[in-house]
Amino acid sequence: MDRIRIGGGRRLAGEIPISGAKNAALKLMAASLLTEGPLTLANVPRLADVRAMAELLKSFGVTVESIPGTGLAEGDTYTLNAAAITSSFASYDMVRKMRASFQVLAPLLARHGEAKVSLPGGCAIGARPVDLHLKALEQLGAAVTLEDGYVIATAKAGLHGARIEFPFVSVGATETALMAAVLAKGETLIGNAAREPEIEDLARCLIAMGANISGMGTSRLTVQGVSSLHGASYAVMPDRIEAGTYAIAVAIAGGSVELLGARRDCIAPLLDLLEQAGTQTRDTNRGIALHRNGARPAAVDLTTAPFPGFPTDLQAQFMAMMTVAEGTSVIRETIFENRFMHVPELGRLGADIRVNGDVATVRGVAKLKGAPVMATDLRASSSLVLAGLVAEGETIVNRVYHLDRGFDRLEEKLRRVGAQIVREKE
Ligand code: UD1
Repeated sequence: MDRIRIGGGRRLAGEIPISGAKNAALKLMAASLLTEGPLTLANVPRLADVRAMAELLKSFGVTVESIPGTGLAEGDTYTLNAAAITSSFASYDMVRKMRASFQVLAPLLARHGEAKVSLPGGCAIGARPVDLHLKALEQLGAAVTLEDGYVIATAKAGLHGARIEFPFVSVGATETALMAAVLAKGETLIGNAAREPEIEDLARCLIAMGANISGMGTSRLTVQGVSSLHGASYAVMPDRIEAGTYAIAVAIAGGSVELLGARRDCIAPLLDLLEQAGTQTRDTNRGIALHRNGARPAAVDLTTAPFPGFPTDLQAQFMAMMTVAEGTSVIRETIFENRFMHVPELGRLGADIRVNGDVATVRGVAKLKGAPVMATDLRASSSLVLAGLVAEGETIVNRVYHLDRGFDRLEEKLRRVGAQIVREKE
């Protein structure tokens, strides 16, 4: 298993190109199942999860062609063609590694009339049930049963429009409802829909494919079903979580870095908190520039919330920064119940963090000290890398396959702005 070695204490300077968004790309890839025409996606990030989704789609008979982008700045281009769906079975082995593979259920069902998809695995950050997905599909006319860890959904006569009102906000369930509704007969209203920018990206791609969707960016989506969709070309939006992670890298390590392609509207609450903690942020015509003089950040509190709130996917990274803040920060996680697995690992570097239920209290220390640590999930891994950037001496992050699932060439990007970071292959 690869590991990453980081020498702490270097300031960062230069530019980091932001890759396409993992959480958008994976759903757009799944959306290729909705049409017999080719879907060409540009700006696809180079990630293990993208490769896993491509393999999964191939198992349904989708042809997948990819053209690699050149350099760090350019994403790959994928052409996905689901002319004929030859299987609608997604095995446990395929789905367990990545929860997003569950998102093939709705498009398979909507286009093919049936699907058998394993219940998901993915990051071990809480129970993460799929009840809202299944209820939405039932409301749209599917028959859904659970058998030996598999979801079996059928809609032989096709799906029909419905009024879906989610009891709480779920990104995945909103996407499931959307992908099913675009081919359902009649109108679907999706209430209390998630407003994450990746959902808007999915909706825009579906519209490019001929879908009729309104209300994008709001919590009420309206879909007029169409009988078929066609092929299209679409470019994946920039990854706001990657952008946010590198923004925190500058805040924690000090220096001046421009994040190419980053969008303020996607990470506004993070940038506000970074400003409060003492980092300057500025919009440029190419993205966002950050500057920090290298002094310890000020302690600020945060609570995660659905978009437009502070994203749970940046909580671990922000906590890494708060470990060296002046003062005490209170961090509340409201989305996932088990998302503090980075805490003991940060503790190995000398952080002072106490967890009580969904609240972590971080007392800033003057210095972290490098040590071997273990990546436990995708976003937690990046928090350990960030802590390593500021820790004295050497930090070794083991089990970096978690990072490779969601960060496109992280060590190359950080090295380019002056970090001392290398990957060791085993
Ligand atoms: C997506 C993102 C993930 C991010 C999360 C929240 C992808 C691939 N993953 O995950 O990175 O952290 O949004 O922004 O896009 N829930 C239920 N029943 C359901 C569905 C969800 O109880 O049927 C719960 C979950 O356990 C969780 C909460 O709802 O506590 C929010 O989850 P959800 O928004 O669905 O997250 P994902 O789509 O899985």
